[in-house]
Formats: sequence, structure tokens, C-alpha cells
Amino acid sequence: MAKEKEIAISGIQASGNLHIGNYIGAIKQFVELQDQYDMYAFVADLHAITVPQEPDKLRKNTLDAVYLYLACGLDSAKTTIFVQSHVPTHTELGWILNTLTPMGELERMTQFKEKSNKEGSLAGLFNYPTLMAADILLYGPDVVPVGEDQIQHIELTRTLARKFNSRFGETFKEPKDLVQKEGARIMGLDDPAKKMSKSAASKNNYIGILDSEDEIRQKIKIAVTDSGKEIKYDPATKPAVSNLLVIMSQMSNEPLKDLEEKFAGKNYGEFKNMLADILVQKLSPIRKKYNELANEPESVLKILQKGAKKALGKSEATMKIVRQKIGLLMNID
Ligand code: TRP
Repeated sequence: MAKEKEIAISGIQASGNLHIGNYIGAIKQFVELQDQYDMYAFVADLHAITVPQEPDKLRKNTLDAVYLYLACGLDSAKTTIFVQSHVPTHTELGWILNTLTPMGELERMTQFKEKSNKEGSLAGLFNYPTLMAADILLYGPDVVPVGEDQIQHIELTRTLARKFNSRFGETFKEPKDLVQKEGARIMGLDDPAKKMSKSAASKNNYIGILDSEDEIRQKIKIAVTDSGKEIKYDPATKPAVSNLLVIMSQMSNEPLKDLEEKFAGKNYGEFKNMLADILVQKLSPIRKKYNELANEPESVLKILQKGAKKALGKSEATMKIVRQKIGLLMNID
């Protein structure tokens, strides 16, 4: 009998301006995993609203993220692509998990501590990780591909799975996080000490997946470098150049070592020209595909309908067990 594929699930937030940090750290990985795993990829719109969002923008960003998933190579025949809010089991399990989560666990989450200082503390932001745990546990995945900054949330997910299982009997599988070694954290082009971010003060911090050729070339031209001339990977002494090398390596699928050899004796200018070429070459077809998809939203909505149906079927099966185990009154129809 053929062995069933292992399950992988992940999401990205619908917050607009997706950049190459999102691509390298998340979407690219999803695309690589979709052949090997039964893959679920969703847009976390309900997580996006844990900080205030403009309603029309949120709608646009959500659809944009789906276009980008598809333009970057996610294939709806292999991957279940859906929008979180279309599958109400997520919020249902999220609520139930809240009732098992000590406030102390949520108070120590790094992401909460960082974001709450900036935005003021909303309960939704505080409870962000329990919704994320629900997103995951509903599908019984083996692995969750995420960026480094999400590892703590996956740990909490495992803690909550154990907690539920010990209280109500074996129900949830404990998932593993899948973090790539290189490229998990792409840093800002204007400040390699901080992660690349769409909310950075300057647009020169990031390369948007949809940036034009001119924008890409210009941003790479002015990206900061380090003192010295050598092009080598050494994040401690050459944080800026190391970051650019990682970007090049991830975009060209050439190992860092090979790139170091290739650029031995070359100067920053030559290196940057090559990097800009690679980015343009990689991102142009994505931009083109994105524009095509944006011109045929109906076909994308069909994909989302199909995705939501499949996700709902799978997660509803989990919820039936959960409702039964925790003692909710069943079967009134
Ligand atoms: N919190 C994740 C991020 O910001 C997005 C996310 C939401 C997610 N739910 C998830 C990732 C479930 C993996 C699994 O990157």
C-alpha cells in the first residue's frame, strides 16, 4: 500500500507589500515542499487584524497574497490554498485553546512583547498564538515550515497539544517546525542589524516581490555594504555583504561557498550588478504571472472556494472529535 504523504501547513499574514524576505523565508519553501507533502498554505487575514487594518486594504492584501502564492509557484492541484477566515473551525478551535492557555505563556511570547509596545495591547494580539496553534492542530501536520521568529509559537502549539491530550485523551499530533538554516532571516538592505520589514521607515529597506526592474537595480545599488573589499560570508564582521550573499544564494540556488569563490577578487560593484541581474531575472516572471492573475480574479476565487472546502472538510473532522471530547452538546439536528 502506498504510504500516505506527510502533512505540512503554513500561513503568511495578509499585510501587503510582500518582499523577498517573505519569499525566501516562507513562500519559496512552501513551493519546494508541495511535491513531497500534502501541503496546506493559507493567508492569515484574522492574524492580520490583530493590528488595526483598513478594511478595503485588508481585502486587497488578502487577495494579493493569494496571487503571490500562485505567481511564486504554488500549484492549487498540489497545495490546498485558502483564506483563514473562510474556514471558521480556526476561530472555534482558537477559542477552545484559549481556555487551556495560561496567560503567563502568552505574556512571554517575544512577538507579543515586541508588537504590544508599539501598537498598544489588544486582546487579539495577546491571543495571536492560540489562533496560530489552532491553524496548525486542526490539520494534524507533521511539519510547519516557518521563519525563525515563529519557532516560539510552534513550541507553544506543541505545549497546547500535550495539554489537551493529557486532559482529554490523545487527540493532537505534536508538529515539528521546519526552519531552513540559511535565509530564515533576511535583513534590511539599509540596516543589516534588523530583519527586512515592509514597515521599515524607508522603502530602500526591502525589495518588494513586485518591484520594477528599475526599483530593484536602484535599491541594490544603494544597499549598504561593509568596510573592506572582500565578498565573503561572515555575518559577525560582514553583516551587510553576508546578507546580500544569502539573498543571491537563495535566489540562484547556488551554495554560498560557490558564490564566495566566484566573487573572489571581484569588487562590490560587480557583485551588486550580478545580484541585481539575478533578482530581476527571478522576480520578473513572478510579476508577470501576478499581473495575469490579477486580471482574472474569478479563476483565483474558484481556487479559494475549492481550498476552503477541502480545508473545512479536514478541519471539521478534527472539530467533531474535539467538541465531543471537551463535552459540548452534540447533534441537535
Ligand atoms: N504567524 C505567522 C507569521 O507571521 C503566520 C501564521 C499564522 C502561521 N498562522 C500560522 C504560520 C500557522 C504557520 C502556521 O509568519
